[in-house]
This record gives sequence, C-alpha cells and structure tokens, in this order.
Amino acid sequence: MLKIGIITGTTRPGRNNIAVANWVKEIADQRKDVSFELVDILDYELPLLDEAIPASMGQYMNDHTKKWASKVAELDGFVFVTPEYNHSFSPSLKNALDYVYAEWNNKAAGFVSYGSAGGVRAVEQLRQIMAELQVADVRAQVILSLFTDFENFSVFKPDARHENNVNAMLDQLIAWSGALKTLR
Ligand SMILES: Cc1cc2nc3c(=O)[nH]c(=O)nc-3n(C[C@H](O)[C@H](O)[C@H](O)COP(=O)(O)O)c2cc1C
Repeated sequence: MLKIGIITGTTRPGRNNIAVANWVKEIADQRKDVSFELVDILDYELPLLDEAIPASMGQYMNDHTKKWASKVAELDGFVFVTPEYNHSFSPSLKNALDYVYAEWNNKAAGFVSYGSAGGVRAVEQLRQIMAELQVADVRAQVILSLFTDFENFSVFKPDARHENNVNAMLDQLIAWSGALKTLR
C-alpha cells in the first residue's frame, strides 16, 4: 500500500498549519487504498542545519537527521501544507527539506496552501525546489484564503468546495506516487 505523508509547513506557536493539515488528513483518510500519516516537522526538532556534509552525499551524522531521514524514506509521496511567509514558504520547511536528499528522490508531491493571496507564491517557489530534490509536483493545488477560509485569520473554517480540490490533488498525487514507486 502506498504511504503518503501530510507534512506541516510551519512550527510557530499558535500556527494555523496544524488545523489545515488535520483537515487534509481527515479528507484523505476517507480513501482506504492508500495510507496517510500526518508528519509534523515540529516533532523532529531539527535545529538550523547542522550537518557538516551536504545531504546529497548521504552521510548523515546526527541522530535528529537520521530520524528525519528514516521518516521521509518511509513515504511514497508528500502533501506539503504551507502558508506564505514574505512571499515565500517558511524557513522551518526549507530547513526540513535541506536536511536530507535521497529520501525525497523519485517521489511525488502535492500542495495545500493558505495566505492572503492563497499562498500561491510560496508554492511556486516550492515547485522550483522540488525539481532539485527530484520530486514530481502535481498540478492540482488546494488554495485557501486567509480572508474567506479562516475567521479572524486564525480559526480555520474552509469553504466546502475545497474538499473536491483536496481529492483532485490526491488523485494526481496517488497516481504519480504509484508510478514512481516502480522507478525506485
Ligand atoms: C513572518 C510572516 C510573514 C508573512 N508574510 C505573508 C505574506 O507574504 N503573504 C501572506 O499572504 N501572508 C503572510 N503572512 C501571514 C500568514 O500567511 C499567516 O499568518 C498564516 O497563518 C501563517 O501560517 P502559520 O499560522 O501556520 O504560521 C506572514 C506571516 C508571518 C508570520
């Protein structure tokens, strides 16, 4: 069975991210042919990158890196849940992406974003990074507005139509995750 990780994109106290990630997980869990895990980068307590050797060399020294690498390695595909921080994605997500390399390769990713402009600028930047990590990023994207899908920018109340968008993104992600498993 394919295993897809729903990966949080922020770590700050009071973040909206976890509510969005949990909502994605609830919708995803209605599918019984694929397993989904919420992977919270906060739980891995990754400091600012402290590995001496670039991740692409595959020589991880620290226990936190090995723990994170083994979780990413377990996954066949990823849903990145991300807001926009200064027209990009968060430094904590970039740090988590930079920590490992081979564990991302030849897998697929989809995106759920939120922000005043739907977080689309963050995802455009993530798509560039996916190419370097050899991750195939699907077209369908879930775009949530801080103005209409949250109350007071902090209580997540998504419009019902977004459930269809989650499923459209998951359809593409599951197809590509399965196809790339054969390549690996
Ligand atoms: C450092 C920082 C920069 C932000 N910059 C943007 C931005 O450029 N565009 C935007 O739409 N929202 C921006 N926001 C608002 C965030 O999208 C909003 O606070 C969101 O809830 C952040 O995700 P989080 O709650 O999971 O941390 C910014 C928030 C922070 C903390």
